[in-house]
Amino acid sequence: MELIRAQEIMLTHPEHLQRPCDPDYAFGAAFVADHLCPLLTAAVPIFDAGLFHADAVYDVVSVSRGAFFRLEEHQARFARACDAIRVRNPFDREREAAILHEVVVRAGLRDAYVWWTVTRGIPPMGRNEMVDPAKFDNRFYAFATPFVFMFDDDQRARGIDLIVSRERIRIPSRAVDPKAKNFHWLDMQMALFEAGDRGAEWAVLTDEEGYLTEATGANIFAVLGGVVETPDSGCLEGLTRQSVLDLCDELGIPTACRPIHARELQAAEDVFMTTTAGSIMPVRSVDGKPVCTHGGAGELAVRLHNLYWEKRWAGWHATPVRYELAGG
Ligand SMILES: Cc1ncc(COP(=O)(O)O)c(C=O)c1O
Repeated sequence: MELIRAQEIMLTHPEHLQRPCDPDYAFGAAFVADHLCPLLTAAVPIFDAGLFHADAVYDVVSVSRGAFFRLEEHQARFARACDAIRVRNPFDREREAAILHEVVVRAGLRDAYVWWTVTRGIPPMGRNEMVDPAKFDNRFYAFATPFVFMFDDDQRARGIDLIVSRERIRIPSRAVDPKAKNFHWLDMQMALFEAGDRGAEWAVLTDEEGYLTEATGANIFAVLGGVVETPDSGCLEGLTRQSVLDLCDELGIPTACRPIHARELQAAEDVFMTTTAGSIMPVRSVDGKPVCTHGGAGELAVRLHNLYWEKRWAGWHATPVRYELAGG
């Protein structure tokens, strides 16, 4: 089965083309504090704890062919993350959604990567006030930019070369809970540099005991004995991961969320990663060893990838972008 060239379609298909917009916004639009601005002029106060302590939660939702995907679920996950780290979102769910629509509309995007955050913001200056989360001035920021693929069509079609990091482990959930999508990325970023050093393209991290957690910015799946399996803990509950579980249900393919030891990858019939910024990403090798005997992307990964895009473009979990906000 050939992989659907989703990136090429986004760049060429008339239903994906960027709508006319103010040229200042063509690269993207941002929302900072209380106003929209061109992405490249958006700025964060240097004293924001989101910047200097990575003290923030965020989320990313995508738009394709003019519709958000699983928007309410992304917002619900974000609200849980805010609660988990005790930041207060200055906006309610409805206003937050309106801002996400506005940044997409202002940039005229039909395919977008839409990011938003609430940071701890500006710390209090008074004595003993740092112990009180209510004393911080929490800040909301958002932006939309043309959709970003973590791996291009050619890479997804042939499969990614993955390593299991030996140098790093994913930060334990008790230290920073990965279920609350956050700015703690150093473990994952350093693992990526290790991947580069070892001649690979991406990395997956384990916990202290060698059980898989997640890849850099993505969930990991392995097909073992015909069952599509993914770790049940130590990772973000990705909405692309959920989409794969839903697609498998629809196809009658058994799934399991359970602890998976990194060793088990050696026996996997197929391996792939999932993330909003890239959909389903087949893996062709792990630690230099081919996953499939033919050496390329696994058949099931490609099938799920294609089904994901076909269904999305047919309206699966879609919230149409409110382009009428721009008056057209
Ligand atoms: C650490 C991490 N794990 C998993 C994911 C995948 O989540 P989703 O499919 O909701 O984008 C992401 C997405 O950015 C991530 O940052």
